[in-house]
Amino acid sequence: MKENIVICAIESSCDDTSAAVLKGRHVISNIIADQEVHREFGGVVPELASRAHQQNILPVVNQALAKVNIKPEDLDAIAFTSGPGLMGSLLVGASFARGLATSLKIPAYGIHHMRAHILAHFIDDAHTEPPPFPFLCLTVSGGHTQLVKVSGSREFEILGQTIDDAAGEAFDKAAKMLGLPYPGGPMIDKFANEGNPLAFEFAKPKIADLNFSFSGLKTSILYFLKAEKEKNPHFIEENLNDLCASIQKTIVDILIDRLRRASKKTDIEHIALAGGVSANSALRKAVLENASNLGWTAYIPPMKYCTDNAAMIGICAQLDLENNLSPSKEAVQARSSLF
Ligand code: KG4
Ligand code: ZN
Repeated sequence: MKENIVICAIESSCDDTSAAVLKGRHVISNIIADQEVHREFGGVVPELASRAHQQNILPVVNQALAKVNIKPEDLDAIAFTSGPGLMGSLLVGASFARGLATSLKIPAYGIHHMRAHILAHFIDDAHTEPPPFPFLCLTVSGGHTQLVKVSGSREFEILGQTIDDAAGEAFDKAAKMLGLPYPGGPMIDKFANEGNPLAFEFAKPKIADLNFSFSGLKTSILYFLKAEKEKNPHFIEENLNDLCASIQKTIVDILIDRLRRASKKTDIEHIALAGGVSANSALRKAVLENASNLGWTAYIPPMKYCTDNAAMIGICAQLDLENNLSPSKEAVQARSSLF
């Protein structure tokens, strides 16, 4: 095998168009174009997202290649997100990637988005050493919340997942109730910094297994705010920091409780975080605290690899190529669900 395989990766599952270039496990270029068009709607509008991807994809890929002086002919493989995600957005990335790969006569690797969040830990500059197999990964994004036992680069076992909203969705919906713009997770994180996490108490799910639920919390926030606003119309503005801190603490407590149970049940102490919500400062802190109390080795991705990016898509193709694995059948079409 060629020593330093050069891969161009594309991520277009939701509202950001991203392209990266990898040389071996090293990311040499990682460009993200975010889409402002959704802000006024308080969430992602799928049709607007696919149109913006169509406009962005060529300049973003060109920029990622030009930045490091790589020509299309220098590429050994293309990687793209095959799902899950918004169908129209996925199709823009998938068609572009497959067209480019066909014209260059190189393989196109269709990559599962959640697998990519997990394997981002194997990017060279993510850690000095990636987590050893098997490890546990708490994968928390806007669409998924999963506890995954990772035994190999294509071996995943879901030990638990959300039965309703995802953790990122819980952050975003709570933020919306507080009148904060989309995406709400980073906003809650910011205001929570100045607030008291013990100021208010919200409902936590009572589920015995390793699954998660956030819909009870959402209802509890909704009724609490309604009652308080009837007494004082300025309740939210006057208590924004404390509300954010208390909501954030509740979500983090729910996540950490399952993570501890999963580690105990599997006897695995190499614990990784992945997905957009792993950018949350309270969650990162809680994992590190538990690591020092319980003897875990914690693997927390650098901020740039937490939220959606193409580098994580590229590393999956790189690991497949290292293991002599050809593109899996999943690459054939964009899909909306798996895992
Ligand atoms: O992985 P990601 O970028 O996209 C999906 O695959 O969904 O995750 C996006 C989610 C959003 O719900 C966003 O609010 C949340 O990650 N998020 C955060 C933070 N940064 C992003 N949630 C809490 N605190 C943050 N700092
Ligand atoms: Zn994601």
